Amino acid sequence: MGTRLKDRVAIVTGGGAGIGEAIAKLFAREGARVIVAGLPEDPVDDVAADIRTAGGSALPFKGDLTTLQAATDCVKTAVNEYGKLDILINNAGVFVETNELTDYTEEGFDYMLRNNVRSVFVMTKAALPELQKTKGNIVCAGSEAGVLGIPQNTPYGGTKGFVMAFAKGVAGEQAAYGVRCNIVGPGPIDTAWTHKETGPMDKKMEKLNNQANLMGRRGTPEEVANVYLFLASDEASYVTGAVYMVDGGITIGKGPVGDQAAKSFKQQPATDLDLDHSMDGHTSIR
Ligand SMILES: NC(=O)c1ccc[n+]([C@@H]2O[C@H](COP(=O)([O-])OP(=O)(O)OC[C@H]3O[C@@H](n4cnc5c(N)ncnc54)[C@H](O)[C@@H]3O)[C@@H](O)[C@H]2O)c1
Repeated sequence: MGTRLKDRVAIVTGGGAGIGEAIAKLFAREGARVIVAGLPEDPVDDVAADIRTAGGSALPFKGDLTTLQAATDCVKTAVNEYGKLDILINNAGVFVETNELTDYTEEGFDYMLRNNVRSVFVMTKAALPELQKTKGNIVCAGSEAGVLGIPQNTPYGGTKGFVMAFAKGVAGEQAAYGVRCNIVGPGPIDTAWTHKETGPMDKKMEKLNNQANLMGRRGTPEEVANVYLFLASDEASYVTGAVYMVDGGITIGKGPVGDQAAKSFKQQPATDLDLDHSMDGHTSIR
């Protein structure tokens, strides 16, 4: 067990799968008590149980975090069970439809706005009074798509652009209360979304993702979680309003740069987190 988040209480939204699962497990391993928050059908019980089995502290919270009521209940769970809230990780998000804009459905657009934008607003609003008490911090999930936009899913890039600007605004406003707020911008990460078998990407998009970044591969959820850990910890005490891209260089890559990546770059590092659910993300519109 590490100590980088010793005695801290953290909420990780979307903690039942993919990157959120990796964040929850890594934070717990570094001493945080973690609320693993997700939709009622997400395997948040399993992730919390895994953490406890490994000697950490975690509890599941189930609810649709697009509503202020669920967001408030989630924060109350942290405070009632663990006494306070130090860290909010706004990681929950959806990527359900790939279509050119002319074919993009209104239903898909609204679903995207609710889950990627509204959820970040209500969770941040609900958590701030507690974070002001502890002089805590927030880390939000942006995306390379929030910087570059993304063809065939233009609304997704738009929602992430919102999150990135929103988080910078929060950093500016909340500095008066001693609350930091930062952004992690993942590139293509090895979760359900970036595999044609489990996500909305087709074979061509999957291949392009790997070609377009300087590593020639997807990042792992653990490689992203490492950066969340730094930003949420006291090591980042002078970091606020910052965007940390964890994208294998996709935002500076030009052309099929991944094809030229060294073999050592293309090899994913071995994980030592037990990520049972990294491929179990929900990809259908509910
Ligand atoms: N995977 C990637 O390549 C990638 C790239 C850039 C950014 N991101 C961002 O990282 C975050 C996590 O992505 P992932 O690939 O791990 O996805 P994932 O689907 O594996 O996990 C996301 C989790 O969030 C949950 N969730 C969604 N809406 C929710 C809601 N309203 N209430 C509660 N839980 C909700 C989902 O059910 C799911 O368990 C997202 O915000 C995503 O935009 C991912």
